[in-house]
Amino acid sequence: MRTPMKILALSGSLRHDSFNTRLLTLSRSLVPAEVEVTVYHCGQLPFYNQDLDGPDRPGQVTELLELIDAADALLFATPEYNYSIPGVLKNALDWASRPAFNSVLKNRPAGILSASMSAVGGARAQLHLKQVLAGTLTPVYPVPEVLVPFAHQVFASQDGVAELSQRLTRYLDGFISWVAGRAPASK
Ligand code: FNR
Repeated sequence: MRTPMKILALSGSLRHDSFNTRLLTLSRSLVPAEVEVTVYHCGQLPFYNQDLDGPDRPGQVTELLELIDAADALLFATPEYNYSIPGVLKNALDWASRPAFNSVLKNRPAGILSASMSAVGGARAQLHLKQVLAGTLTPVYPVPEVLVPFAHQVFASQDGVAELSQRLTRYLDGFISWVAGRAPASK
């Protein structure tokens, strides 16, 4: 494994006390020392506009593309908004997806986490995110998925966070091994 392994963690929520962003900061505290997790917030990006895309693209977009290109893997944590992923996350992926089928997302391994206040834990958002990532040729760690239903209750209880940490550690261990066993994504 190339060390440190760099994981760029993208939260689909802009909310200050977001459960999904907390999933990523919790992940950062659970990975082995040789793995570096950087949490990225998608809210600083302008709306995707093809007129602005190209060599003179906005600076925030260039920064995102460079962060993705430098990452060995991506880790998404997404809320479910109306059975899908939030617009801010789709917007970030649209910027990162060009040129089509040959972008920084191509062959870049990804993991998906989700937390929601409902009983389904963001399962439908995970499915939509997988479909978007299929369009960018981004391989997704197949199993087991981490869904956090009733996230407001889980994060409010010490036992809930302890149980979640165990589940997340198992997921991250498997994810890191999977990433380490793959060829680097660089083009
Ligand atoms: C939601 N929420 C939600 N939950 C869910 O399980 N399925 C859904 O379709 C939706 N739809 C939805 C739409 C909008 C506009 C909002 C604001 C919320 C609830 C959502 O899971 C909850 O607010 C989470 O706490 C959002 O994640 P963060 O911000 O805590 O990471």
